[in-house]
Amino acid sequence: MRALLVIGLLTLSACGSPEAPPSTTTAETPASTTAAAPATTETADRQEEIAELAAPYNQANYEAGRRVFAQCRACHVIEAGAPNRVGPNLHGVFGREIGTAPGFNYSQPVQDANFVWDAEHLDHWLQNPQTFLPGNRMAFAGVRDETQRRDLIAYLMVEAEPED
Ligand code: HEC
Repeated sequence: MRALLVIGLLTLSACGSPEAPPSTTTAETPASTTAAAPATTETADRQEEIAELAAPYNQANYEAGRRVFAQCRACHVIEAGAPNRVGPNLHGVFGREIGTAPGFNYSQPVQDANFVWDAEHLDHWLQNPQTFLPGNRMAFAGVRDETQRRDLIAYLMVEAEPED
């Protein structure tokens, strides 16, 4: 009985020694790498799209832009087809006439304004919505930091793409 056990243990440890590398491999966390991969890959893809934008937006940081957009998320979504919230859905905003998101009830100043959203207009709007277009209903103080605006606008450019 005891002999059998010993043999069994020996057999086990014989198999057991190759067991060490697998557990080392586990320690290298293939599991957590797999879990992190989708987000990381998407960020990398988006960062590559940003690199193809016109200057200065090609210098922007996607992750930083995403963090700035957290301030907008309280009122805006950017996913295609998602409903308007307090503010209009921003999907496809570039190249869109101001005040024309379907189904959104804009203030009079926005309805009366007449331009197409591009990076330059957005940069001014985001710097200070109230001085840019007095009387509009976007209750947001603005993003004063130029780098934050650059990162945010680049983020919007790649996330608001109609074909995405
Ligand atoms: C407190 C809510 C709120 C926050 C926060 C907010 N917005 Fe708005 N936003 C609005 C509202 C409301 C409107 C419509 C304004 C109007 O009709 O006068 C609007 C309008 C806009 C428009 C014009 C859209 C169009 O269809 O012409 C853009 C662009 C925009 N917001 C971008 C942003 C970005 C980017 C941020 C974050 C930096 C942000 N907003 C933060 C509420 C908000």
